[in-house]
Amino acid sequence: MTVKLNLKDITKKFGSKVVLNRLNLEVNEGEFMVILGPSGMGKTTMLRTIVGIEQPNSGRIIVDGVDVTDRPPNKRNLSMVFQNYALYPNMNVYKNIAFPLKMAHVSRQTIDSKVKEVAKLLNIDQAINQNVTTLSGGQKQRVALARALVRDPALFLLDEPLSNLDARVRYTARQELKKIQKDLGKSFVYVTHDQSEAQNLADRVAVLHNGTIEQIGPYEELYNYPVSEWLGDFLGEFPMNFVDGDNLGYPGTHIGFRHNWARLSGDGIPATVVLVEITDDGYNTHCAIDNEKQIIVKAEKKLSLGDKVKIMPQKMNIYEEGKLTKTVSA
Ligand SMILES: Nc1ncnc2c1ncn2[C@@H]1O[C@H](COP(=O)(O)OP(=O)(O)OP(=O)(O)O)[C@@H](O)[C@H]1O
Ligand SMILES: [Mg+2]
Repeated sequence: MTVKLNLKDITKKFGSKVVLNRLNLEVNEGEFMVILGPSGMGKTTMLRTIVGIEQPNSGRIIVDGVDVTDRPPNKRNLSMVFQNYALYPNMNVYKNIAFPLKMAHVSRQTIDSKVKEVAKLLNIDQAINQNVTTLSGGQKQRVALARALVRDPALFLLDEPLSNLDARVRYTARQELKKIQKDLGKSFVYVTHDQSEAQNLADRVAVLHNGTIEQIGPYEELYNYPVSEWLGDFLGEFPMNFVDGDNLGYPGTHIGFRHNWARLSGDGIPATVVLVEITDDGYNTHCAIDNEKQIIVKAEKKLSLGDKVKIMPQKMNIYEEGKLTKTVSA
């Protein structure tokens, strides 16, 4: 498999603040890589460093096998969609999209057909002659996306490109984007803090935490077997449940399990039902196992508040000092 992007030991500081800390990442040819992380974790900084707007304090950036660390942004063969769009305000939609091609001295005819094709694809062809300052946030975002997609770089970098679309449009745009990426066959590095985007778009997800990649892999793998308690807590609609291993014969550890991994009958950890939420396929039953600790178990039967239950995970992730050591089945 060809590696399109290789980040080697990238460190980036602002003053004494370390944002990227010896970060390593490989993105394969044709791969949809989603970088997921909480706000302020350095996702934008990472993309800006790859594209060359920021210089790393140390480390190397390899694009298509070529070390581009010391090259200016326009000599890196990358195309980026910025979080804040960065459109040219005194130009209309057409000229904004055409701009990178014009810079590359592409023929006028080719520019024209390319711009129209991409504008149509992203459903902004109606607004093609409008000045970009008159567009809505969602339209601006699609122009920014079009301006990136009109080019043919080694790799696309996208910084939360759908965040300003409303829910329904975002859903459609997400499907479109996934299809565009597969049709182009190009590698995407797509930054988001939205877990459902990560879940639905990514071939692999890389979670950014404390300046490095906490874990990388298919979403399901990270969701089921997070390498750290931090990640188990961060990923998913609900945080992973964590209990002291003492409860289940694994002293000195923490046991992590997802809400649909446990039964509420037979043996197990004594608990009291404190909240019941109805879902499409069962009841998310919130249980208190001592005064403050609450865990969530999906139950088939509707229980009542105050019911006494016993929680028995059928599958358990064992964490020692916050790190996953093994997974066991009951
Ligand atoms: N030019 C800069 N000078 C100083 N600090 C900066 C600069 N750019 C970013 N930072 C800091 O680096 C950290 C990471 O910021 P960054 O914008 O990369 O996060 P992010 O993950 O993209 O966040 P968000 O999800 O909100 O977009 C923040 O603490 C931010 O304040
Ligand atoms: Mg950002």
